[in-house]
Amino acid sequence: MILSKNYERSLKIVNFIRISISSNHQQILPFMKRLALPILVALLLIIPTCFVNAQTNADQGTSQKISSIVKQLTLEEKIALLHANGIFGTAGVPRLNIPGLMTDDGPLGVREDVLEGWGSANLKTDSATFFPNGSALAATWNPALSYDYGHAMGEEARARKKYIMLAPAFNIARTPLNGRTYEYLSEDPFLNARLAVQSVKGIQSQNIAACVKHYALNNQEIERNRVSVEIDERAMQEIYLPAFKATITEGNAWTIMSAYNKLRGVYCSENEYLLKTILKDQWGFKGIVISDWGGTHSTIKAANNGLDLEMGSRPPYNTYYFADPLLKAVKEGKVSVATIDEKVSRILWVMYHTTLSTNPPAGSINTAAHSKTAYNIASESVILLKNDKHLLPLNTAKIKTVAVIGDNAIHTHHLGGFGAGVKTRYEITPLKGLENKLDKNTTIKFAQGYRAIVKSKENVNAIETSKADPALIAEAAALAKSSELTILFIGGNRDYESESRDRPDLSLPFGEQQLVDAVIDANANTIIVVIGGAPYDINKIKQQSNTIVWSWYNGSENGNALADVLTGNVNPSGKFPFTFPAELKQSPAHALNAYPGDSVETYKEGILVGYRWFDTKKITPLYPFGYGLSYTSYIYAGLKTDKSSYKINETINATLSVANTGNYSGKEIVQLYVSKPNSAVARADKELKAFSKVLVNKAGSVEVKLNIPVKDLAYYDTKTSKWIVEPGVYKILVGSSSAQINQTTSVTIQ
Ligand code: BGC
Repeated sequence: MILSKNYERSLKIVNFIRISISSNHQQILPFMKRLALPILVALLLIIPTCFVNAQTNADQGTSQKISSIVKQLTLEEKIALLHANGIFGTAGVPRLNIPGLMTDDGPLGVREDVLEGWGSANLKTDSATFFPNGSALAATWNPALSYDYGHAMGEEARARKKYIMLAPAFNIARTPLNGRTYEYLSEDPFLNARLAVQSVKGIQSQNIAACVKHYALNNQEIERNRVSVEIDERAMQEIYLPAFKATITEGNAWTIMSAYNKLRGVYCSENEYLLKTILKDQWGFKGIVISDWGGTHSTIKAANNGLDLEMGSRPPYNTYYFADPLLKAVKEGKVSVATIDEKVSRILWVMYHTTLSTNPPAGSINTAAHSKTAYNIASESVILLKNDKHLLPLNTAKIKTVAVIGDNAIHTHHLGGFGAGVKTRYEITPLKGLENKLDKNTTIKFAQGYRAIVKSKENVNAIETSKADPALIAEAAALAKSSELTILFIGGNRDYESESRDRPDLSLPFGEQQLVDAVIDANANTIIVVIGGAPYDINKIKQQSNTIVWSWYNGSENGNALADVLTGNVNPSGKFPFTFPAELKQSPAHALNAYPGDSVETYKEGILVGYRWFDTKKITPLYPFGYGLSYTSYIYAGLKTDKSSYKINETINATLSVANTGNYSGKEIVQLYVSKPNSAVARADKELKAFSKVLVNKAGSVEVKLNIPVKDLAYYDTKTSKWIVEPGVYKILVGSSSAQINQTTSVTIQ
């Protein structure tokens, strides 16, 4: 940044005052003491202006450079910047030293290099750290970890010379069947936004653009290329757009990916309302709208309605809508040169923040620090669901024989299915993690229990999976019987949960339930660990098992983190970022027969997505949103707000104490929901408005502060297209899940 002269002068004065006040100089001290306050006040007024000036100067410098380049480019050169010329890249303009853009997939980490046709490039230089999947990250409820994740992935992207990371991905979990639920974050717009904003900031701290995706309403994979979402405006504004808005207005994301589907009959990649009115005009987005791969469907409409860059992976690239056809459309006057110049300027603007940024960070890859970030996320994402017999944490000194059973104890998840994976240098499996962490005198024996084979049929929405194998089950049961303790790993994998198709139902695949029945029958000291990225039907397991742990596709450090939780080195602190239905037809889209649609899918549930539906309709799910246990217990007390009545531009400051009453230090996720009784409009029973993850030491207690800006209580009024905060009494509900409210109070909004 070029510092203005004023700013440098201010810094010198501040420094002088600092040195003078800290010195013991007899004469100068009384004089300085009198002067210090007025000078500091003046400086506080000057410094922000100086920052703004410096920033404005830099911005002006960049925009001058951009307009000078635009003037020098021929129309053909401009068009070359607006479409793919390889799977992940665009052509540059060598004549003017403008490089092509180089993008790459997240969100699991920086994807391995692929050749035309998507085959592996078989390089030795394209490995990267495998980070936990999206719903695992969301289960941490820890925005700081989300920043660390973005930061680490940004460093790796820079080391790999990929300047746009196609991440984070955070479409709302509308149906548990969506094949990409594992990739996305949550069913709640607030949790989504808090995490996604931090990932964007982390990635972009490395001068790598985040590409937030998929904008918008890409909530299923079935028919994703043709389904048209019919949704009322309020549900769209309150549920599906807030996290996108936050990543643009707060996170300053430099790029965004338009979704494959249509909104109200118009493809997202050519949807004027989404791209121009909302994104560019209302949210002030300055960066590039990038199409999803092969998700562009027109030239003139897309160009005039806000798409900036057409990406795809099928040559010949000169036939793309934004290649020769766009050149022709400009020559025929159907797309103006000004429109092309605007797109080119946006692309150059992103380049000046990324590829062409001055003094960029060096980047680094596969570092110990990145492994630590992957470990931290994994260890905070694991959820304890049941611990009735106190089998956990494992009494490692006492247990001499452990049976580890199930394919998921040895399965790796960095690659698999359709869609982006990571060529990681290592992925610690659960079995390896246990071998690393259990006492060396403990004998660990393994039996596979089931085969996890997934065959996709030609129709991408149909899958065939391997069924229960009686011989493997018998072998597993015998091993369980002869061991003191069994840890049984079941769940999904990334072949089963995959982009491009949804799951057919919630049932556990691969005949796993039969294996569970046999193993529990053989040994009651069985801990069930379910690994998955989305809800499964574990009703029977909840009944028959005394100990259940939930884990995820948890990155390079998966096994180490999980073993640390099982052995008590880490107290579990993850909580579900979505509601776990007891059966599919409890879930709103399924209850209302509003899924999977065909060419049209009507979001009949409106704003009642996830727990908003379950709570309002008083339906008891298998596990509520925000649920997760710990090895310790917490008591919430003393909830109060700083005032009883607030004006629209004020913030409600709520405080309470959380005491740890058990034998282990732990992290608790304190959730604050707001409810508006007697509202003039239909409302959800309650909505998450704040949360905090706090460390509470054994026998200790912490004061938790939760702030809610009053404007966050607004609903979207469809008549006036405005956000309205309704006056009246609001209930403040604080608890450890959406179903477990421990403290309540109320406030009045004037
Ligand atoms: C996915 C995107 C991804 C792109 C490039 C598409 O199929 O929907 O999320 O970034 O492919 O791999």
